[in-house]
Amino acid sequence: MGSEEINTSEESRSHLKELLAIGLIASVIGVVLGLAIDWFPTQASTQAETVDTVWDVLIIFSVPVFVLVMVVVLYCVWRYRMKPGQELMDGPPIHGNTRLEIIWTAIPAIILVGLCSYSYVALTDIEEAKADSLEVRVVGEQFTWTFHYKDASGKDVASAQLYVPRDKPVNFTVQSLDVIHDFWVPAFRMKIDAVPGVDTHLRITPKTNGEYPVVCAELCGLGHAAMRQTAHVVDQAEFDSWLKERAAGGEGGAAPDEEAGEGAGAADGKAIFTESCGSCHALADAGSSGGVGPSLDETLPGKDEAFIEEAIVDPNAEIAEGFSEGLMPPNYGDTLQPAELDALVKYLAEVTK
Ligand code: CUA
Repeated sequence: MGSEEINTSEESRSHLKELLAIGLIASVIGVVLGLAIDWFPTQASTQAETVDTVWDVLIIFSVPVFVLVMVVVLYCVWRYRMKPGQELMDGPPIHGNTRLEIIWTAIPAIILVGLCSYSYVALTDIEEAKADSLEVRVVGEQFTWTFHYKDASGKDVASAQLYVPRDKPVNFTVQSLDVIHDFWVPAFRMKIDAVPGVDTHLRITPKTNGEYPVVCAELCGLGHAAMRQTAHVVDQAEFDSWLKERAAGGEGGAAPDEEAGEGAGAADGKAIFTESCGSCHALADAGSSGGVGPSLDETLPGKDEAFIEEAIVDPNAEIAEGFSEGLMPPNYGDTLQPAELDALVKYLAEVTK
C-alpha cells in the first residue's frame, strides 16, 4: 500500500458524502436531544416562556455547527491518519479559494447577526417596563436576602421570604450592603447582580402559584452556597393579607401559608428554623447538617433563652470559637416578626437543653 495514491478525486468525493451523512445524522440526534430534554424548572413567570424559546432556537442553530465541526475533525483523524512511509504523500497545499472563503464567512455572519437580532428583540420584550407594577426592594448582604415592601400607608415592611402575587408585574430594585451578590430565581429565569452603591432592576410577571428557590448566583464569601431563600407566588388576595399581617408586626403569628395546626397563630419554631437557619447551622432535632455556622447541638446546651435571642438578633456580640465575625446576617431582628423570634428562641432552648 505504501506507494498507492491515497487521494484520488473519486475517493475524496465518496469520503465527502460519508462525512455529510454522518454529520447530518449526528446533528439531527443532537438537536432532538437538546429539545427533548427538560433542562429547566417550572416556568413561573411570563418571561420564562420567552427565555426558554430563545434557548430552543439557539439549540437548533448551534448544535449542528458544533456537531459538524466535531464530525469533520474526528472523521479526518480517523480516515486520513498517516501511517509510516506516507509522510510525503500529502497532496500539494491549497492557497486561496475565494468562493469557499466567501461562503464560510457569509454563512456564520448571517447566523450570528440573525441570532443577535432575535435575542435583542426577546430581551427588550422581557425587560419592558409595565404600568402598575408592584415595587419590591431586594437587599443582598453576606449571607441573606431581605425583601422590602411598602404597605398601604407607605410604611416599609421587611421580610426574609419573597412573596409576589400571580399575574401582577413586579419591579425589583436590587441593592447590596457589602459585596457583589446576584439575585436569581431560576423559576423566573431572570437574574441580576446586586452591586454595592448601585440600584439594578429586574422585572418579571409571576404566572404559576408555588414555592421556588431564591439563590445567590455570584460567589460572595464563605456562606455563598447557603444564601438561599424561598419565593412564594400566591393569589393577590393571599398576598394582600400576608402584607397586611407583616405590616401589623406579626400579631397574627405565623405566615399565612402555615397551617394553624397548633392553636391559632402559634408560630412554628421548627419551621422557622428550617427556613431561616437550617442551611447554615446543624441541629439534630430539625435534621439539618449545615456547616457554615456553628453546630447548635454543640454550642447551645446550657445556654438560656436570653443568650439564644441575643445570638440571633446580634450575632456579633459573641462569636463561637473557630468562626469569624460578620458571617451571620445581622438582620434577623428585622426580618423575623416578634412572634416568630419568640417561637424560634423557645424551640431552640427546648431542643438543646
Ligand atoms: Cu451572595 Cu453569593
